[in-house]
Amino acid sequence: MSACELRNIGTDIVIAPLAPGREIESMLAQILIEVVADGGSVSFMHPLAVADATAFWQGSLAAAARGERIVFGAFDGDEVVATVTLQLAMPANQPHRAEIAKMMTRPSHRGRGIASRLLQTAEARAIAEKRTLLVLDTAVEDGASDFYARLGYTEAGVIPDYAYKPHGGLIGTRFFWKRLGAAA
Ligand SMILES: CC(C)(COP(=O)(O)OP(=O)(O)OC[C@H]1O[C@@H](n2cnc3c(N)ncnc32)[C@H](O)[C@@H]1OP(=O)(O)O)[C@@H](O)C(=O)NCCC(=O)NCCS
Repeated sequence: MSACELRNIGTDIVIAPLAPGREIESMLAQILIEVVADGGSVSFMHPLAVADATAFWQGSLAAAARGERIVFGAFDGDEVVATVTLQLAMPANQPHRAEIAKMMTRPSHRGRGIASRLLQTAEARAIAEKRTLLVLDTAVEDGASDFYARLGYTEAGVIPDYAYKPHGGLIGTRFFWKRLGAAA
């Protein structure tokens, strides 16, 4: 991590883009397993095997290394405690757009503003990448709709029965968008 990539939060949380590596992949896998077990709707079912969680992050960080996305991590000391992904690889007719995905904070670290600052960091990077539109989605129950609305995202609508909750049962998904920079 170079100094210019770092962003201090309060006294002890630092945000940085993540690169492939066994230790980082293991920490991200543990967060994903914990968040899914806690009921977080992030594309996986509970119980999530370590091998599957690790394989997901290996693929995601490999895509980051190719410049297709940026995976941000929030560090409490040496430990990653929250993450968000800025997906930059878009179809040829949507070069102005990016997507926010895999936003999650360890339950032990919630309510400290970490996800808010991760999202702000991702938005600043999206602007630097000349993106003017961000899109994301979240489960209607136990999701983060209020969180995104407070941070300026506009609801586009709900698709019912979009996905299964980690512990079973179909749930709807709410889509959001936000304009960035001069086009806002
Ligand atoms: C959503 C999530 C990332 C928020 O993490 P966090 O680090 O606790 O968020 P912050 O501390 O920055 O919260 C900022 C504000 O949003 C509120 N907030 C956080 N999560 C919320 C939720 N799920 N629903 C409603 N409000 C929420 C907080 O209370 C806080 O409000 P305040 O500023 O008035 O105190 C975390 O709850 C999480 O990991 N959830 C499970 C995974 C998930 O659903 N991710 C979203 C998928 S798109």
